[in-house]
Amino acid sequence: MVNELDEETLSLIKQIDVFFNTESIAVVGASKTEGKVGQIIFKNLADNKRRGIYRGELYPINPNEDSILGYRSYPTLQKVLGDVELIIIAVPAKYVPSVLEDAWKKGVKAAAIITSGFSEVGNTDLEEEVKHIISKAGIRVLGPNCLGVYDAYTGIDMLFLPETKTLMNKNVVIATPRPTPGNIAVVTQSGAFGAAAIDCLAGQEMGLSKLISFGNKMDIAEQDILLYLLHDEKTKVILLYIEGIIDGRKFMEVAKKVTKHKPVIALKAGKTPAGARAALSHTGSVAGSDKIYDGVFKEVGILRARNMEGFFDLARALALQPTAKGNNIAIITDAGGPGIMASDECVTLGLNVKQFSEKTIGKFMDLIKEGEIPSFAAYHNPVDLTGVVTSKMFELSMEILLNDPEINGIIVLGLHHTPHLTEDFTDRIAKLSKGFQTPIVACDIGETEMANYIRSRFNKLGIPAFSSPEDAAYAMSGLVEYGMYLMKRGYL
Ligand code: COA
Repeated sequence: MVNELDEETLSLIKQIDVFFNTESIAVVGASKTEGKVGQIIFKNLADNKRRGIYRGELYPINPNEDSILGYRSYPTLQKVLGDVELIIIAVPAKYVPSVLEDAWKKGVKAAAIITSGFSEVGNTDLEEEVKHIISKAGIRVLGPNCLGVYDAYTGIDMLFLPETKTLMNKNVVIATPRPTPGNIAVVTQSGAFGAAAIDCLAGQEMGLSKLISFGNKMDIAEQDILLYLLHDEKTKVILLYIEGIIDGRKFMEVAKKVTKHKPVIALKAGKTPAGARAALSHTGSVAGSDKIYDGVFKEVGILRARNMEGFFDLARALALQPTAKGNNIAIITDAGGPGIMASDECVTLGLNVKQFSEKTIGKFMDLIKEGEIPSFAAYHNPVDLTGVVTSKMFELSMEILLNDPEINGIIVLGLHHTPHLTEDFTDRIAKLSKGFQTPIVACDIGETEMANYIRSRFNKLGIPAFSSPEDAAYAMSGLVEYGMYLMKRGYL
């Protein structure tokens, strides 16, 4: 993809890449004081360097210290002996302009300004002053008022949120986990939501490629990051949390290019007047009409998540499964009630749960005749294998569904509670599905050990699994919506 790029895009990609792949980082405001923003960020990077994950140079900048965590400390950037490509700024807002003047003289290429206290609190003059310096200096800036970036592959970790916390009873617990390397990128205007998002991804065993928090987007905005991620080989799915878009035209132009190749899932906050007011004071964003956002997302092929859970459910589905080439969905279950729930939700979401073809029905009748599935199984859609279900019954029935060209997606409700169902039905279904392009999503209901095991097993085998029939249907609707968008545009 990179070969076809024009000069401007290529140059933008190179500039943004400094935030993720760099030879040298300086933390301005690195501190020895436990819990300070500059202390946590510097320690994250020093830890990752020690573990061999971050391989570049690392410099603390602090006028009052000679060394921090064993690294020689410098009073200013200019005093650093080697080159500095990337800086992370964690000093109070009033010092930020002078730090950037210094960075200009040092030849710094990129800066993440973690510091708050700019346009989001009405301090627009200071933000303008900084803008003026960076445009003269040609320094690309993320923020201010942001978390910066976290790259699960290169170990660049600017999150000032400690990975663990000690409870009052002295137990140490994971507080802000760093997810394992994976293929989902999180792009967020809200830093706090970014941290929560990676907590959710890690807890749900989903891997992350990059987290990018852009805060007030003084320079780099969402469309620049989307364009960068389009060409990022590690990223397959992009999760975008936004409060307001400034340059709508540019955003649409870039989003169309990105969604042609990679799914983008948006969570847009600030739907109501109260939410819009909150967005204004959070990142200075004008939320705008929610209907306009709906229209824009549809037009450019961005999937708008219905809520926070839906955001991650769609990410899981699109990261693991191919898109659907139509909206005819088959449901297969060992539990009648959840089969009805999934059917209802599918129809509510605009999916078809129509009766199978005569040929497919005939194949199920043959299975009954052969004694492979019970005579009382239902086979008109949903397929209900009932409480006597076995792994083999799931496998034989799935084979019929996967071979039906009229079926565009399959929802497997494999409730583990039935007496004869062994956990290997997950493996059998996954193995079988390898030879087909029909997307599959699964569901097991329950909050205890076995349900967690089945869902986790499915996920590891590449079949996204959910804890309710409605969530499974919603995930399938995302695979259908994106597939239909690609087909309508002639991309599939
Ligand atoms: N160059 C280098 N170091 C400098 C400096 C400069 N020009 N000016 C000050 N420092 C040092 C300080 O001496 C201090 O080090 P010390 O602990 O050894 O004394 C360190 O930088 C930090 O400065 P300090 O004045 O202690 O600030 P702070 O740590 O209390 O707060 C911020 C700084 C950036 C964290 C704070 O202003 C802020 O913006 N907090 C909010 C961050 C946030 O929420 N961002 C959005 C996330 S989504």
